[in-house]
Amino acid sequence: MGVRFKGWGTALPDRIVTNDELSKTLDTTNEWIIERTGIKERRIGGSALTLGTLAGQRALEDAGYGLDDIDFLVLATTTPDRITPATAPMIANAMGLHCPAMDLNAACSGFMYAVRTAYGLLETGQKRILVIGAEHLSRWVDWNDRTMAVLLADGAGATVLEYDPDGTDLLSFSLGADGSAADLLTCEHDGFFQMDGKEVFRRAVRVVVSSAEAAMAEAGVTADQIALVIPHQANLRIIQAATQRLGIDMERAVIVLDRYGNTSSASIPLAFFDARENGRVKAGEYALMTGFGAGMTWASAIVQWS
Ligand code: UT7
Repeated sequence: MGVRFKGWGTALPDRIVTNDELSKTLDTTNEWIIERTGIKERRIGGSALTLGTLAGQRALEDAGYGLDDIDFLVLATTTPDRITPATAPMIANAMGLHCPAMDLNAACSGFMYAVRTAYGLLETGQKRILVIGAEHLSRWVDWNDRTMAVLLADGAGATVLEYDPDGTDLLSFSLGADGSAADLLTCEHDGFFQMDGKEVFRRAVRVVVSSAEAAMAEAGVTADQIALVIPHQANLRIIQAATQRLGIDMERAVIVLDRYGNTSSASIPLAFFDARENGRVKAGEYALMTGFGAGMTWASAIVQWS
């Protein structure tokens, strides 16, 4: 079955919070944050609804589609505006869409899980799906906890996926989940994000490598053919370790975490958009999109841009 990425859009809050600003209220330094994570600044503000709506509108505009062209909206978010209703119907309403709309929570793998879900919906006869990843992580950050406060941020990204009987951008997927690791990264109702960072780091590298290898094998693509890696943006060192083990030159990885921090479900579309803006997305070339996060969940896909 053929599926094409037809348009992309992003949304970021205006407010920039630098490492130096955080170090005024937290026992941390700009040097520590850059050395251990690669993050220099992040954007804070908005909500899954406001950021997701803007990114969705921009993706639709980029694809050149009208409101009636979209059959389904899938929103990946870890931080919906409310427990219920889901945020997706509110985004659909704000955009003026008249289609089914639902939230999906697979933490930082959310965008790739949503792409996989949209692929399945297209297989069953839908024509175009709007996939959005939108996060308001800052709302559930304890701003006195230096371990999480320096990492998490807000943002959104979106794409339109379209059924195409004549060819495909999406060649393979490899997704997984391991609930035995659920306690490693959590946010309770009315609580804050908490994480065993070291263990999440170790497991993240392992699952990115194994799922990327599985997706490459299924697509019949080797590491040296991967022109672009579009990874979840949690930590520069995770991306370095994973690309090294995969035998992919780090130069091929797209990095936006230095400017945007970890935006969970929004990080992969934000990274894609940055790559496209910088002329790094080229027709015919192969890319690896790969995410991992709380759950634990992970998801890789091999793409060949049309
Ligand atoms: O998005 C999905 C999942 N999230 C991730 O993938 C994140 C994975 N984990 C990580 O990125 C890293 O583990 C962190 C960035 C969270 C932490 O880096 P680390 O190199 O693993 O540091 P650590 O936890 O081993 O801490 C080293 C030291 C500790 O001090 P002591 O015990 O050596 O005295 C920490 O207390 O650094 C201290 N520390 C900090 N120091 C300054 C922890 N956070 C900070 C901080 N500023 N913000």
